[in-house]
Amino acid sequence: MAAEEQQQQSGDNRGWSEAQLRNYTFATKAIPRMSHSDPRVDALIDNEEPVVLTDTNLVYPALKWDLEYLQENIGDGVFSVYVAKTHKFLYYDEKKMSNFKNFKPKSRREEMKFSEFVETLGKIDQHDERYYLQQTLNDTVGKKIVLDFLGFNWNWANKQQTKWNWGQLTSNLLLVGMEGNVTPAHYDEQQNFFAQIKGYKRCILFPPDQFDCLYPYPVHHPCDRQSQVDFENPDYERFPNFRNIVGYETVVGPGDVLHIPMYWWHHIESLLNGGITITVNFWYKGAPTPKKIEYPLKSHQKVAIMRNIEKMLGEALGEPQEVGPLLRMMIKGRYDQPYS
Ligand code: SIN
Ligand code: FE
Repeated sequence: MAAEEQQQQSGDNRGWSEAQLRNYTFATKAIPRMSHSDPRVDALIDNEEPVVLTDTNLVYPALKWDLEYLQENIGDGVFSVYVAKTHKFLYYDEKKMSNFKNFKPKSRREEMKFSEFVETLGKIDQHDERYYLQQTLNDTVGKKIVLDFLGFNWNWANKQQTKWNWGQLTSNLLLVGMEGNVTPAHYDEQQNFFAQIKGYKRCILFPPDQFDCLYPYPVHHPCDRQSQVDFENPDYERFPNFRNIVGYETVVGPGDVLHIPMYWWHHIESLLNGGITITVNFWYKGAPTPKKIEYPLKSHQKVAIMRNIEKMLGEALGEPQEVGPLLRMMIKGRYDQPYS
């Protein structure tokens, strides 16, 4: 169990307990935790395997951030805050909502100033809703936040970017969540340094080769890249391969940086009864595809191919709703049974 292994690594003062973790049906192994100077780090990142780095100082100046400091210094800009009646904040792409007219999102986005967000957090028991602030850091932030940002360990970050031939840093997303909030399993199409600042988050990852166990929504669906499986109540009739899932997990705390490799599935939960959590994500474009393609392809390359086929069919047919029927016709009785 990941928690026990972590306890061995970080002693008794790890800052959280097993009782703060939600219960799931599947087994996991521990994501390795180590110093950024450990010789094993490069092989892990190079092999696209996750690792937690405990001493990068990547967001060192931000380790003092809390609601009060942010409210005081983050400025008067507007922040996207997601509001949900449940602890699960299933992401949806608003631009794809017109493709699936019957889709009813279970959370909504509200734009508010940081001070309004803090005010709302103060009176949440009155209305039983949960909040999750997720906003790209931009130039509306105040001077002190700019200074903290400039004090990030860009030297280390830029070296990683160069070493792995990643593309540009596309954004830094600030996440401020309530205890118990869950971001359900999904994958992103970028490399991510997930820098934990305040509180503890449990991160459960699955490699891209478990695509067939996680049943992502169709590409044109607003929940593209998200798993359809409800981890708390898996429907094995609809999603039989979910029985075969095996995860990697860790709990990150202040100062830890988790590398979530591109196309790796991740489920992230703020621990129960652990207070608010603060994270800053560093998203980088992946390395360009090599000139000479090597076979066999890696599973993430096959995922990219499947995405492109779905997109091309949607375009060619002029209607996302027709992709499924065409794929079924193409496969049924032809590719879904052994040849004689
Ligand atoms: C989260 O921290 O809740 C989600 C972050 C991510 O999906 O990258
Ligand atoms: Fe993500």
